[in-house]
Amino acid sequence: MIPKRLTKMKLPYFFQQFLGFLAVIILLMTVTVFSLVLFGRRTALNATENRLFTYAESVVNEDLDPTQLDTIRRVLIAQEVSFFVFDDDGAIVYPDLPRNFRANIDDEQLNQLESGERIALKTHHEDLLGNPRETTLVYLPYFSENTEEFAGFITVSAPISHINRQMEELKGNLFSAFLISAVVAILMSLVFAHYQVKRVNRLRKAAHKVAEGEYTIQLEHNERDEIDYLTRDFNRMVIALKESQDEVIKQEERRKSFMQDAAHEMRTPLTTINGLLEGLEHNVIPESQRLRSIKLMRKETRRLIRLVNENMDYENIRSNRIILTKHSIPLSEIVEEISEQMKDIVKESSNELIIGEMDDIHVYADYDRLKQILVNLIKNALQFTKNGTIQIASQYTSEGTEITVSDTGIGMTDAQMENIFERYYKADLSRTKTKFGESGLGLAIVQQLVHLHGAKITVESEVDKGTTFKIVFPEKIS
Ligand SMILES: Nc1ncnc2c1ncn2[C@@H]1O[C@H](COP(=O)(O)OP(=O)(O)OP(=O)(O)O)[C@@H](O)[C@H]1O
Ligand SMILES: [Mg+2]
Repeated sequence: MIPKRLTKMKLPYFFQQFLGFLAVIILLMTVTVFSLVLFGRRTALNATENRLFTYAESVVNEDLDPTQLDTIRRVLIAQEVSFFVFDDDGAIVYPDLPRNFRANIDDEQLNQLESGERIALKTHHEDLLGNPRETTLVYLPYFSENTEEFAGFITVSAPISHINRQMEELKGNLFSAFLISAVVAILMSLVFAHYQVKRVNRLRKAAHKVAEGEYTIQLEHNERDEIDYLTRDFNRMVIALKESQDEVIKQEERRKSFMQDAAHEMRTPLTTINGLLEGLEHNVIPESQRLRSIKLMRKETRRLIRLVNENMDYENIRSNRIILTKHSIPLSEIVEEISEQMKDIVKESSNELIIGEMDDIHVYADYDRLKQILVNLIKNALQFTKNGTIQIASQYTSEGTEITVSDTGIGMTDAQMENIFERYYKADLSRTKTKFGESGLGLAIVQQLVHLHGAKITVESEVDKGTTFKIVFPEKIS
């Protein structure tokens, strides 16, 4: 856990990185240096101890013969090593020292020696003669040759000053290495921290530009580490932002043009209704024309109501506020009903409506909504076709029940086809002023309804040849 005070502290990212790198490197180096010093000291002490035991064994091997011991003593003194021989009671045997010179040893250690154990006392602050100098010493028991009983022990000692000297030298070397490594570590941390901070700053600047509305920024990156992945996600985010921004602008433009269109569309019938009402009020409309005027007003009112209703319908479907009641519907029945209802409009449009063979075909759909879909497609076909044919056909395919509405009308370009399902879109404003429709909502509603059924709608069209809308309804899953 990082303390709260630290997390609140304002420490630039550069220093956080830098200190982080540095702390890790220095900690590692410190641990290494300490381990090396401890290990070195232990190894040196062990080596000395082994050496001292070897000397003690050679003393025992000389059968404690005083002349031989003198020779050994002279040789060892050159190496600052001294040895003493004591009897089983701890009293001095060799060299020739006053009898009261005793080994500095307690009963427990004496018992250990008696039982044949060797004792390696690592360090002592004074030597056997009581001089204050750090000494390492060992005790080795010896036994009588005949009875094999404990006969005494030998102490061999050496000052540890030379071990300390070695250690000092080692520490000195390690310290220099430590200093050099620390300098290298600082330089490396600086380089690393600088590199990382530079990458973060690049992202920060880019994010700042995006916040100011620049949605074209894309940063180069590799796929090596988290900052690269962050950069990749940042790029994706900018693209998504751009798309949604474009969408918002597009929708807004549509909405604006729809509002203009709607206002325009509403003004004409409202002006008509108003003029007629004025005429009726001032009795300027002759009696014979009155009924016609009222009929005209009703027609215009219906147009207004239709405009409002379609908008509401679209919103309801879009926000999932309608519930479908699906049944298996005989297609021929519904198509016949539609053709009966639309016969006047068909006649007026000078087109021919051809209904294909569909006696055995059933569609799993909501009756009213399916009718709404087909009416919209047929109305469009009639609206954009002159002296041609409109054909409704159907068949079962592997994907479901397919229904097509084709016409031999004016068709559309690819660019126009791309947008027709969008709300308020009219491919060509000049050609929509017909009596069939003008809100640009028909296909948007159709598409929402088709999707609500889990069905798919596609369109194929060629300018001046005609258009075909195809819907595939999935089979009922039982
Ligand atoms: N069969 C078709 N042939 C040629 N163009 C078509 C056809 N159907 C649709 N379009 C084009 O797609 C546009 C959108 O159609 P949609 O039905 O959504 O709106 P609308 O018919 O203009 O108005 P609404 O149907 O709301 O009264 C039409 O304005 C027209 O340009
Ligand atoms: Mg339409």
